[in-house]
Amino acid sequence: MSSATRQRGPANNAFDPDTLANLPAQDRDLIHRRQELLGPAYRLFYQRPLHFVRGRGTRLWDVAGEEYLDAYNNVVPVGHTHPRVVEAVYEQMQTLNTNTRYLNENILNYAEDLLGTFSGPVAARHAMFTCTGSDANDLALRIAKYRTGQEGVIVTSWAYHGNTRQLTGVSPSLGDASPLAPWCRRVPTPDSYRLDPAELPQRFANWVEEQIEHLNRHGHGVAALLLDTSFSSDGLFVDTDVLAPAVERVREAGGLFIADEVQPGFGRLGSHLWGHQRHGLDPDIVSMGKPMGNGFPVAGIAVKRDVVADFGHDIRYFNTFGGNTVAMAAAQATLDVIRDEGLMANAESTGAVIRNGLLELQKRHPRIGHVRGAGLYFSVEFVTDLDEKIPDKANATAVVNAMAERRVLISQTGRAGNALKIRPPLVFDSADADRLLTELSAVLDGLDA
Ligand SMILES: Cc1ncc(COP(=O)(O)O)c(C=O)c1O
Repeated sequence: MSSATRQRGPANNAFDPDTLANLPAQDRDLIHRRQELLGPAYRLFYQRPLHFVRGRGTRLWDVAGEEYLDAYNNVVPVGHTHPRVVEAVYEQMQTLNTNTRYLNENILNYAEDLLGTFSGPVAARHAMFTCTGSDANDLALRIAKYRTGQEGVIVTSWAYHGNTRQLTGVSPSLGDASPLAPWCRRVPTPDSYRLDPAELPQRFANWVEEQIEHLNRHGHGVAALLLDTSFSSDGLFVDTDVLAPAVERVREAGGLFIADEVQPGFGRLGSHLWGHQRHGLDPDIVSMGKPMGNGFPVAGIAVKRDVVADFGHDIRYFNTFGGNTVAMAAAQATLDVIRDEGLMANAESTGAVIRNGLLELQKRHPRIGHVRGAGLYFSVEFVTDLDEKIPDKANATAVVNAMAERRVLISQTGRAGNALKIRPPLVFDSADADRLLTELSAVLDGLDA
């Protein structure tokens, strides 16, 4: 098939290069250069791609000097260019930048601090550091397979877990052109909008059980149930106490539970630092990344001691940049600011304002089928019919782009791409919430006009 007739793989809120002619000359030139230099695999956001040159707190400024409210970027939980993180990185960069093959106290202090955030004693787990969330999940799967002697991995139907070969094999949201691994099995999303929430724990466990049987029948066994505990790419589902029965089934079958906390981790959901804690779970491995260094590339896993004992004995682990002295400085400063500035409490209080505002908007706009979320993480589903709950991607796309024109950044999520994804830095305050809701209200009124 020629590249001209090929369908592009699924991506939410992606710029369509066929509309290039509609853009100003300066943007067209940059996009041409990107295509020439970076090739065809990258995607830009928005129908009119944005070009930022500066950020601070919850604000970004574009090349023309226009100020935007950032209600989307979770990689900077303590806000763009937070001075404490910038200072910590700068200080460490000009003092020493070495790797984990030398003794250093800071990595130990951070590991101790981080491990103290999970249930049970610090001594119950080890911390291992990587550069990206993909890196962390890849290591988690290797450890799980080594520990269990089994190969199968169960994920949700529209999950994303990363970009290594092993992880693209368990990331169905990359679309049909990206093959799933023969040892990957999918279960439906625990969709509390379309299914009875009271039945979800049992239903989810039954789906997992079916896939365990399937994996066993094919000789793979189950190494792990790997779940984003906020089901981010599946459309964001943050109900509590859903997952325990499924995790129990996996453990009975000799597998492990890996909580992918790359999205919900570090306080995004307000009530708990980690998404799995909302389900009362104690994962065998927790992977983390994105918000960990406020934009500095640092990620990692927290793994139970017995789970990694044989792997660590038999196979050495080294990651040139993972856990280096500068990465640890960024991670420590970020965690300190999350605590010192009370950002989890802020996520709860500002989040409540946004949630109430979204529910009010839902009353006025019948296109909104469902509002859900926790802390500072929300999804707003558009449907064509409130009874049938048929996804309406066109409306979500229109809203996301109209919001960008009003200089507020949000995006889209879910298999059908029909849900708004609102996921601001955790320093988002009540004035920011007010601006977000005011603009969203105006955009929705415009749609109904
Ligand atoms: C749930 C989840 N896991 C893993 C990853 C991979 O992280 P990274 O892009 O840092 O490799 C992502 C990235 O979007 C993610 O959303």
